[in-house]
Amino acid sequence: MRMSVRVNRPDKTIKHRRLKLALNTLATTRAVGRALGAALPERAIVLCKGQLGSGKTTLIKAVCQGLGIAPRMVISPTYTLVNVYPGRRSVYHVDLFRLETPEALLELDREDWINPAGMTLIEWPELAGPFLVGESPLEVRLDFVPAHAERRRMTLRGDRRIYGAVFAALEERKGNAEATQGR
Ligand SMILES: Nc1ncnc2c1ncn2[C@@H]1O[C@H](COP(=O)(O)OP(=O)(O)O)[C@@H](O)[C@H]1O
Ligand SMILES: [Mg+2]
Repeated sequence: MRMSVRVNRPDKTIKHRRLKLALNTLATTRAVGRALGAALPERAIVLCKGQLGSGKTTLIKAVCQGLGIAPRMVISPTYTLVNVYPGRRSVYHVDLFRLETPEALLELDREDWINPAGMTLIEWPELAGPFLVGESPLEVRLDFVPAHAERRRMTLRGDRRIYGAVFAALEERKGNAEATQGR
C-alpha cells in the first residue's frame, strides 16, 4: 500500500512549484518580465507557452531588459529560429513556431539553440521536449482573458530550489497585481 503511494507521487511533483499571476496591463507584463529576468539563475531554460499574441515575445523582451539587454535588440526569431543577444552572459532567444517535427532540431547542433553558457528563452517549446530530458526548465504559460484585450494570466512552474529567487521575486508582485485588480 505504502509503496504504491510512493510510486504515484514521483519526486518531481514534490519539488515543483506553481505560481499564478494576473497581468492586467501591458505595463504589468513588462514589469513582471523585468523582475523575472533579474531573478533568473545564470543557466536558466525558460519555456514560454501560449497562443499567438498572448505576449511571449513581449515578455521575453522585458526579461532581456531585466538582464541588461537593450529592448530594441530583442526581436521575434520566428524566421531565424534563434537570436543570440550578447551581454554579461549571452541569451539565446528561440522560437520553434515554424518547426514541424522535433527531428528538424537534429539538423542543428544542440549548442546552436540551447545556450551552453547562459540562458535560453524558448517560444513554442512543445517540440523541444525530447531534447530537454534531464534539464530543469522554468515553464511560463500566458493565457488570454476573455473580453479583456489587455489582460493576461501567467502561470509559472518549475523546480522550487533552482527557481527559488524567481518565485520569491514574483510572489511579491502577486500582491501588487491583486491589489490593482479591482481598479
Ligand atoms: N498584458 C499584456 N501582456 C502582453 N502583451 C500584451 C498585453 N496586453 C496587450 N498586449 C499586446 O499583445 C501582443 C502580444 O504579442 P507578442 O508578444 O508578439 O505575442 P506572442 O509572442 O505570444 O505571439 C502585443 O501587441 C502586446 O502589445
Ligand atoms: Mg512571439
